[in-house]
Amino acid sequence: MPSEFLNEYEPLLIKEFKDSPRLKLPNKSLLLAACAACIGGTFQYGYNISVINAPTESVQRFINQTWRERYQANISEQILTLFWSTIVSIFTIGGLIGASIGSTLSVKLGRKGTLLTNNIFALLAAVLMGLSYSVGLFELLIIGRLMCGINAAPTALRGAMGMFTSIFITGGILTGQVIGLNELLGGEEYWPILLSTTCIPAILQLVILPWFPESPRYLLIDKGDNEGCKKALKQLHGAADCDGEWDDIEKEKNNLLGFDAKKPWDLFADRSVRWQLLSIILLSAAQQLNGINAIYFYADYVFKRSGIPSDKIPYVTVGTGACECITALTCGMLIECLGRKILITGGYTLMSICCVLFTLTLTFQDASPVVPYLSMACVFAFILSFGLGPGGVTNILTTELFTQNARPAAYMIAGSVNWLSFFFVGLIFPFIVIGLQQYCFMVFLVVCVMVATYIFCIVPETKNKTFLEIQNEFKSSSYRKAVSTNGAGTNLLSTSM
Ligand SMILES: *[C@@H]1O[C@H](CO)[C@@H](O)[C@H](O)[C@H]1NC(C)=O
Repeated sequence: MPSEFLNEYEPLLIKEFKDSPRLKLPNKSLLLAACAACIGGTFQYGYNISVINAPTESVQRFINQTWRERYQANISEQILTLFWSTIVSIFTIGGLIGASIGSTLSVKLGRKGTLLTNNIFALLAAVLMGLSYSVGLFELLIIGRLMCGINAAPTALRGAMGMFTSIFITGGILTGQVIGLNELLGGEEYWPILLSTTCIPAILQLVILPWFPESPRYLLIDKGDNEGCKKALKQLHGAADCDGEWDDIEKEKNNLLGFDAKKPWDLFADRSVRWQLLSIILLSAAQQLNGINAIYFYADYVFKRSGIPSDKIPYVTVGTGACECITALTCGMLIECLGRKILITGGYTLMSICCVLFTLTLTFQDASPVVPYLSMACVFAFILSFGLGPGGVTNILTTELFTQNARPAAYMIAGSVNWLSFFFVGLIFPFIVIGLQQYCFMVFLVVCVMVATYIFCIVPETKNKTFLEIQNEFKSSSYRKAVSTNGAGTNLLSTSM
């Protein structure tokens, strides 16, 4: 059951957009409910990815100083970098933990209850990180970031749920960068306050969300509470529209009878879907290993390496967030009209080109004072290319490559791979920048080229195709070694949609 999708207000909202004959605004209370739900995990995810960039230097100075006072010795460059990259990237381990407890909680406490409870982690994180400076314990930052990750997890990752969510994620990224400007909370002494601002969305949600009803879907499907569901629908949709919604949820409930969700290990054991599985694992890993989130984490490192003056870096960083915001607002439509394969292959190809150009501008950055800004343009183009293709499409592909009863397991696998790769790239990226210097983006070049090639050669176009057609195309493009396919596809057929 797709219980990892805690934010069930969004599907309702999208339906409302599609059903309205004229382009009227959606119901106000529904829009507010969706916003209240998204300001928790979804916004927090983006916010915590980008907000950590501004205090890079201040926190490193704080660690250095604390270390000297505590051990009467200087901390080595490597250890300091390791502490910093741990503080930054432990967030993703929190995400992994949060994602795995989230689906259990959402059945026990309800969607709304889980979202509300979840804010405890953000509040705790804010207290821990806010206090770390006064009590002289930089370890609190690590624990705090872990909590932030748990808090940001339940609403799945980037692109998982369409446009409304990606607007909130990129909005969170941009907000984090703007708050980190020197004019706001980016100043040297303000970083404890800056890091504890993660409590603000949490408090907002705690104030707003209780006014809205529990998800009607949860009430009817998980709880069997007919009256409660009707009441919730009336509150969200108004009395006039709630009967149609009711019928839809009822239909969905009946479809779920006898629904036999596969477990992740079932997917690994099922030979008929191994190419699909391999594809989503590679794509999910590439989604992070292509470096997009590493750039937000470590914008400071990247732009310093590009030769951009320190005082301008915060503004350039805001530019990266703005780029992705633009693509989030415009790309939903592109996805609908172009094929998935074209978008992903094209996106990764453009990203590869950006990596090459970026490496060139890094190498020749001293040639002219303009060159650092060319580097900046390359990073912007890199982010735009990501947003155009892989950013929005990867998760759609996960949906389209699997039958309904395999999907929850596929999401779970894709999500775990995503968080783990995010952790990996987050932990080592500063070392890559220090070690490879101007060649630091070569790592991402290799990833982008390999993924583009893999998709081009192996993954078929999935738009408007049935599962059987997709499966047959996988076989003909990649499955040349004549292995017998005993009955592959039969269980796919009988359970599709
Ligand atoms: C730590 O601070 C000292 C004194 O300010 C400085 O000389 C040293 O380079 C710093 N260490 C690192 C690893 O930045």
